[in-house]
Amino acid sequence: MTLLTRTLGSHQTTAVGLGCMGLSIEGKPERGQAVETIHAALDAGCRHLDTAWSYYESGGPEQTNENLVREALASWKGPRDEVLVATKVGHYRNFEDGEPSWGVDGRPENLIRRAKESAMALGVDAIDLLYLHRPDPEVPYQESIQAMAQLVQEGVAKEVGISNASIEQIDLARGILGQTLVAVQNQFSPIFLSSRQELKHTQQVGLAFVAWSPLGGFRKPKDEAKFDPFRQLAEERGVSYQQVVLAWELAQGDHVFVLPGAHRPQTILDSLGAGQLELTREELGRLG
Ligand SMILES: NC(=O)c1ccc[n+]([C@@H]2O[C@H](COP(=O)([O-])OP(=O)(O)OC[C@H]3O[C@@H](n4cnc5c(N)ncnc54)[C@H](OP(=O)(O)O)[C@@H]3O)[C@@H](O)[C@H]2O)c1
Repeated sequence: MTLLTRTLGSHQTTAVGLGCMGLSIEGKPERGQAVETIHAALDAGCRHLDTAWSYYESGGPEQTNENLVREALASWKGPRDEVLVATKVGHYRNFEDGEPSWGVDGRPENLIRRAKESAMALGVDAIDLLYLHRPDPEVPYQESIQAMAQLVQEGVAKEVGISNASIEQIDLARGILGQTLVAVQNQFSPIFLSSRQELKHTQQVGLAFVAWSPLGGFRKPKDEAKFDPFRQLAEERGVSYQQVVLAWELAQGDHVFVLPGAHRPQTILDSLGAGQLELTREELGRLG
């Protein structure tokens, strides 16, 4: 099966990537299965892996997901150079009321230090695509973005993305990063449609839009009913509703990429098929 590819910055890569977060945070599978899941995706032709400095269990060793990605690529027999590996800096794991949580630290010195640690963990001289994970309300956004520009100048990152960004923040980042800003990674799915405005804006200004938690998140989404029209169509087409959701997201524009997560080979293998699922105009109209 030849997978759908699209242009993301200087890369021509698969429109469906593997979101690796669930392989290393709370609820993760055992390591062998995690590596198998990444290998299954790569063997099937997936050429886009998404990780982050902060994808580790709260209270546990840091950067476990970046280490996992490096090890999985090192033990994979295929063409490593073809694989776009994206990572992110600006988050860290913490606890809130005893529950695992995500802290944010967008101070320039922190971003620069963490990005260098990411490159080291991934075993690369320069990171293919480095995202600022989330704006830090305590730090002026332009200061965080200037740190990302410095990381490109120093050769730590080849290209930059921003994540969880508003239109204002996208435009501010464009002003500072110019052509080195290539992607915006925001949440987008049938249960999270408010980022449609950023999806449209990125198309207008020539950036890739990368959808995170495209299936509503690996913890059971609160609003399951929003998936009902996708389930209905999936039944008619004889495919999983997850494939219909991802295909509908990809149909929002040629600049859209999706990053479904998976804890096992079976789910990512099914999701990768979404790029081949063509929805008719009438079907897209029904889905909204
Ligand atoms: N930038 C950010 O701030 C941010 C935040 C969150 C997530 N992300 C990125 O988004 C990625 C995905 O997010 P996510 O894992 O929360 O949510 P998701 O992709 O919306 O959902 C993943 C869940 O869907 C299931 N699934 C995937 N494909 C399936 C299929 N074809 N059939 C049936 N079930 C399927 C998986 O099942 P199994 O568990 O059974 O495999 C998993 O439980 C993350 O890995 C990360 O890379 C980024």
